[in-house]
Amino acid sequence: MYVCLCNAISDKTIRDAVRRYQPQSIQHLRQLVPVGKQCGKCIRATREILDEELQNV
Ligand code: FES
Repeated sequence: MYVCLCNAISDKTIRDAVRRYQPQSIQHLRQLVPVGKQCGKCIRATREILDEELQNV
């Protein structure tokens, strides 16, 4: 499922980046994956995925 339509980034892409690099903040995650660089509507969903994945570590 696409989370960021502007940049065609899926939840799988975000989850893979979180699992691999363990970013501890949305800012760090955004350096790894270009989410939220345009309209910003995907930031909230991205944060939820980040929190979910970090809890599963
Ligand atoms: Fe991600 Fe627009 S949906 S920047």
